[in-house]
Amino acid sequence: MSPATKLVSVVGARPQFIKIAPLLRSLPHAAERGGRPIEHVIVHTGQHYDADMSDIFFDELAIPPATFSLGVGPGSHGSQTGQMLARLEEVLPGSGADVVVTYGDTNSTLAATLSAAKLHIPLAHVEAGLRSFNRQMPEEINRLVADHVSDLLLAPTPTAVTNLEKEGLGKRTVLTGDIMYDAALCHRQLAAQRSRILERLALVPRRYGVVTIHRAENTDDETRLGKVLSALDAFAATALPLVFLAHPRTAKVLRSRFPVWSPHERLRVIPPVGYLDTLCLVGQAAMLLTDSGGLQKEAFFLGCPCITLREETEWIETVQGGGNILAGVEPEVIRAAVSTWEARAPEGRTDFSAAVAASFGDGHAADRILDAIVAFVRAV
Ligand code: UD1
Ligand code: UDP
Repeated sequence: MSPATKLVSVVGARPQFIKIAPLLRSLPHAAERGGRPIEHVIVHTGQHYDADMSDIFFDELAIPPATFSLGVGPGSHGSQTGQMLARLEEVLPGSGADVVVTYGDTNSTLAATLSAAKLHIPLAHVEAGLRSFNRQMPEEINRLVADHVSDLLLAPTPTAVTNLEKEGLGKRTVLTGDIMYDAALCHRQLAAQRSRILERLALVPRRYGVVTIHRAENTDDETRLGKVLSALDAFAATALPLVFLAHPRTAKVLRSRFPVWSPHERLRVIPPVGYLDTLCLVGQAAMLLTDSGGLQKEAFFLGCPCITLREETEWIETVQGGGNILAGVEPEVIRAAVSTWEARAPEGRTDFSAAVAASFGDGHAADRILDAIVAFVRAV
């Protein structure tokens, strides 16, 4: 038997835990196809550390515990990334990695990219080629670095491939489909069976909306966040009850900067929930208002009308496919977007499946990602 191919995945933030779940499920099949075992090691940077931001995903998605937990935690961009770099330099050399695999665009992605590149370990970037074309976003800088430094670029959509080609990175790029689509497809059944979130929150299917906000541009700017809050209060008063899943970053800002804000009685602010509950909530909601990247897509996959509380999106396919309205934070623009959805989707749901299939693949992105990595390692 030939020696195992060793993949070291570096993760640290909520969406990255969700992204590795489908990859883990596909490992045995990819090993069979490739004719050699695949070993997979998880490094958890500790960027997200609360139980409802980390452990819950490992438990729900049956992800084995991380081999290396770096315990970095919160901090400014520089100090957080710097601490990750220092700790990765301690664990990566002895990890036996044939390839370090990074995901998305967080500071954990950035640190893993820089660290592996300096240690001359080959690098594969999952979710390569995303661009908002807004360099004020920390994630845009992280993506640019990850894509330009990585050896293998695993692009989720044709748009991502085009972005990479325009930057001269086409030769390193493989179109794989979107691993978050795999995750949503393979967990939505389980979510329907296991989640009791609608009962717990006394929500009626298609008669409520879901909200998430966590982007720096919205949480660190009091004026913008103030506008979002007043739009949400108005929505709850005039349209539907809302469940606001408050990211810890947002919860902290609400406590410190908006201590006297008293949400409308139909607007419930609750702590984050697990992935299965989120799929269930979005799967049954009449509308999603969000600045999350992952949730814009999940709404599209699950047929939930989406309003994005940003001026641009990396997931432009959701807008082009008719599933997402970019509204920014002005209350009257958000109100107009709500009216558009009320007219376009009076039942609270729509079917975007044709547009989803055209851009996000067939739910087997993890297989393509692993096959591309195995072929790449063989060729190195
Ligand atoms: C990070 C990513 C963002 C991603 C998001 C997913 C960067 C630059 N940003 O943003 O791209 O969309 O994760 O959720 O990497 N906190 C807690 N408990 C936790 C985690 C965070 O209290 O478990 C609080 C801390 O006060 C922390 C703040 O949230 O300082 C922000 O966390 P951080 O990981 O730096 O950025 P996110 O906003 O989560
Ligand atoms: N999510 C979750 N619980 C929540 C909110 C979000 O499980 O309370 C999931 C959501 O389904 C999606 C992912 O977390 O898969 C998105 O993470 P987030 O919005 O934090 O980051 P982004 O995708 O914007 O990077």
